[in-house]
Amino acid sequence: SAAEKGGYDYFMLKEIVEQPRAIADTLLGRLSVGGELTLDEMRLSAQDLRSVEKIVIIACGTSYHAGLIAKYAIEHWCRIPCEVEVASEFRYRDPILDRQTLVIAISQSGESMDTLMAVRYAREQRAKVLAICNVNGSTIPRESDGVLYTHAGPEVGVAATKTFLTQLAACYLIGLYLAQVRGLKFGDEIDAVIAQLATMPEHVEKVLDTVGPVRELARSLSDADTVLFLGRHVGYPVAMEGALKLKELAYMHAEAFAAGELKHGPIALIEEGLPVVVVVPSPQGRSVLHDKIVSNIQEVRARGARTIVIAEEGDESVRPYSDVLIEIPAVPTLLQPIVATVPMQVFACELALAKGNDVDQPRNLAKSVTVE
Ligand code: AGP
Repeated sequence: SAAEKGGYDYFMLKEIVEQPRAIADTLLGRLSVGGELTLDEMRLSAQDLRSVEKIVIIACGTSYHAGLIAKYAIEHWCRIPCEVEVASEFRYRDPILDRQTLVIAISQSGESMDTLMAVRYAREQRAKVLAICNVNGSTIPRESDGVLYTHAGPEVGVAATKTFLTQLAACYLIGLYLAQVRGLKFGDEIDAVIAQLATMPEHVEKVLDTVGPVRELARSLSDADTVLFLGRHVGYPVAMEGALKLKELAYMHAEAFAAGELKHGPIALIEEGLPVVVVVPSPQGRSVLHDKIVSNIQEVRARGARTIVIAEEGDESVRPYSDVLIEIPAVPTLLQPIVATVPMQVFACELALAKGNDVDQPRNLAKSVTVE
């Protein structure tokens, strides 16, 4: 009913708007003002976490994209080697696991059969399994050694939105907590990240307040055949998420590339008028990365692409090469996916609506995939 949808026509629209609250609820009680993290509820002891020598993240679809982002954060903060793999590939390749391996299984529903089978396999190999899940008491957390719940509230729309942003929050919490229990010196960077994590709900709110032009843009592109997405560093999995949303909701061909890979083949796809969405890292700090992507934007634009650029507010360097510029708040690079994903969700949702699609129940898809 309309009441269940909070006055919106679709659950997805409501769930996009609920994201600031969902993130705040997921951080609540876990992140203190002083920067100490409390995750005792996870059921994994500090001792267990100190003995971890390798992390393997397994997940499907959007949850897999959260895992890809987690890898950048965990390796950078904790210096623990971290692999990420789609769950359906994992147990068929004889992966190397032992007691010192921490497997993190990310599943919104806790019921994806591919992820569940990978969890069972990992435990048979004696790895410790930590689930990140949004549904209390679902199968994956029940079969894991520990769990960190996201508190996004029920997500009805088939496309993952608020559960994705809260998975990211959970991944950051785990990365920072691992650093904390392993006694890693919390340098200025980590302290700053903890403080910034607490402000993410406000930043997402701000993005939601300013996405109006993204809706217009989406409507203007409803006849496009293909949209390409480019990113580097954590912007690459964000680009993958943008492409997945467009496929599942708008039934359009969409593909993401690591921007540095363009010259190794995909640049041949660029032709006059092709929409290319680019996620630009913050110009602060890792400016080398930023400058590299600015040249990637120039390269595709010189070949006729219509560039849709998602960049930090005040980043004037991209303006001359952007046909459409979407500004997002300035946050540390590793946290940028939380704000950069939101315009992509709105873009895909609006484009799908312009095509007359049901965004809550896209064709051929189920909310949780309980077959292998
Ligand atoms: C995301 O929009 C999709 N509906 C899908 O890729 C989903 O993320 C995937 O099936 C994994 O689901 P899970 O998180 O419930 O395991």
